[in-house]
Amino acid sequence: MLSFTPFLLSAAFLLGTTNACAFHDSSLLDVDFDAIAAQNNAARTRLMPRQASKKIALDNVRIFNGHEILKPSTVIIDGGFIGDDATGAEHIDGQGGVLLPGLIDAHCHPSNVTHLQELSRFGVTTGFVMASYSPQMSASLKNHTGLTDVLLGTAPAAAPGSTHGNITMQVDKTGSLLVHNVSQAKPWVDAQLAFHPDYVKIVAESPGLDQETLNALTREAQQNGKHVVCHASAYAAIEQAINAGVNHIHHTPYDTAIDAYMAARMLCQGQISTPTLSIVKAIASNTPGANYSAATASVRMMRDVHVPILAGTDANLQPGLIATVPFGISMHEELELLVQAGLSNLHALRAATELPAKYFGLTDRGAISAGLRADLLLVDGNPLEDIRATQNIRRVWVGGVEYTGNLGFYNGAVV
Ligand SMILES: *[C@@H]1O[C@H](CO)[C@@H](O)[C@H](O)[C@H]1NC(C)=O
Ligand SMILES: *[C@@H]1O[C@H](CO)[C@@H](O)[C@H](O)[C@H]1NC(C)=O
Ligand SMILES: *[C@@H]1O[C@H](CO)[C@@H](O)[C@H](O)[C@H]1NC(C)=O
Ligand SMILES: *[C@@H]1O[C@H](CO)[C@@H](O)[C@H](O)[C@H]1NC(C)=O
Ligand SMILES: *[C@@H]1O[C@H](CO)[C@@H](O)[C@H](O)[C@H]1NC(C)=O
Ligand SMILES: [Zn+2]
Repeated sequence: MLSFTPFLLSAAFLLGTTNACAFHDSSLLDVDFDAIAAQNNAARTRLMPRQASKKIALDNVRIFNGHEILKPSTVIIDGGFIGDDATGAEHIDGQGGVLLPGLIDAHCHPSNVTHLQELSRFGVTTGFVMASYSPQMSASLKNHTGLTDVLLGTAPAAAPGSTHGNITMQVDKTGSLLVHNVSQAKPWVDAQLAFHPDYVKIVAESPGLDQETLNALTREAQQNGKHVVCHASAYAAIEQAINAGVNHIHHTPYDTAIDAYMAARMLCQGQISTPTLSIVKAIASNTPGANYSAATASVRMMRDVHVPILAGTDANLQPGLIATVPFGISMHEELELLVQAGLSNLHALRAATELPAKYFGLTDRGAISAGLRADLLLVDGNPLEDIRATQNIRRVWVGGVEYTGNLGFYNGAVV
């Protein structure tokens, strides 16, 4: 059963003030969202015309089908999707490379087209944006033909005076995005849903929203058909997220590992974990008292209980953040970290492809099969044998458009 000791509670409390997404310097957060949105929108108009999608037969590729790597065959790319008829296609020799579905980063914070290019050149073809303080700016990241497709969360629901509440105040000084108490849960969710987010983001932290308010936010969002993603990077916060019945719990505790009972509750409630080991490791390396082993032990606990695990990085380049994580390249690091933590290579690959699509309800991607988006990553070597083979990037297609800029790694070297 649940067992707290006063020591664990106080450790969780202390660490709650240094969790992922905490800022050191408030002055760095004066972001001009409208200006960035205008630049992103201008880039879309400028880049779109020269990126028409053509019909391609990609011959001699070994498809990763979500379970195994198949014998060499041909994949058709047609009008942005995977086709099934090679008539009239231009043939490209895949030279026996392994063809993966484009990678999905289930937690990242791109804000401009450079970030989308970074994601694309490392084969990350979908990114789940985990905090939209400005709906206009978030929308400006959408529909960039040939670049990473984004799904958008809401602003994070956070309490005044909490770590995340303070961040929210720095980007929106009116305080209108804060949630003060349970009676504000419904109006807050309604206001956010007006912007048509893909999911709702809430924050469990200490000090922070109380259990009743987390419950009400979750219920309101779910009654409106939205999945709830909850930030929780300490043991006590994970308990709150489990109690609230959120759909997705993001991060892993770096104070105290979750126990089997918590993992079992997650499984029973259909809750999904995105451990974001990349940022947790970065934080642990510069935060006294943080225990990265608690995070990896939590991943193993969830693995053993069969809680679904997704790959997400928390990639962000926001100056002043407690830890920055680069876009794209970090997804390959996340796969390595998940494997080091105890996932099989197959499990890690699924965590970055089929599973995020499935658990975020995206039926148009996550696998290589006719009718799905042509989001593809061609690599040398066999990532089922060595997960670092995902880094031998040969070619990338995003929505059927080949990424023609500099690709990310080759043979472990960033290029
Ligand atoms: C995007 O932001 C990064 C900093 O994270 C900056 O280096 C880059 O120049 C920006 N790109 C554009 C197109 O403004
Ligand atoms: C993106 O494209 C979709 C579908 O064509 C459209 O409904 C939406 O308004 C577009 N959004 C932006 C920001 O361009
Ligand atoms: C949030 O900011 C207030 C005012 O500066 C400060 O008193 C409080 O300690 C901050 N909260 C956290 C969790 O750091
Ligand atoms: C909830 O917070 C709002 C904003 O601070 C306040 O106006 C309202 O009275 C509070 N309601 C309750 C029940 O505390
Ligand atoms: C860190 O976490 C691991 C895994 O739960 C645990 O075995 C270890 O004792 C912890 N270290 C400290 C210093 O608390
Ligand atoms: Zn984040």
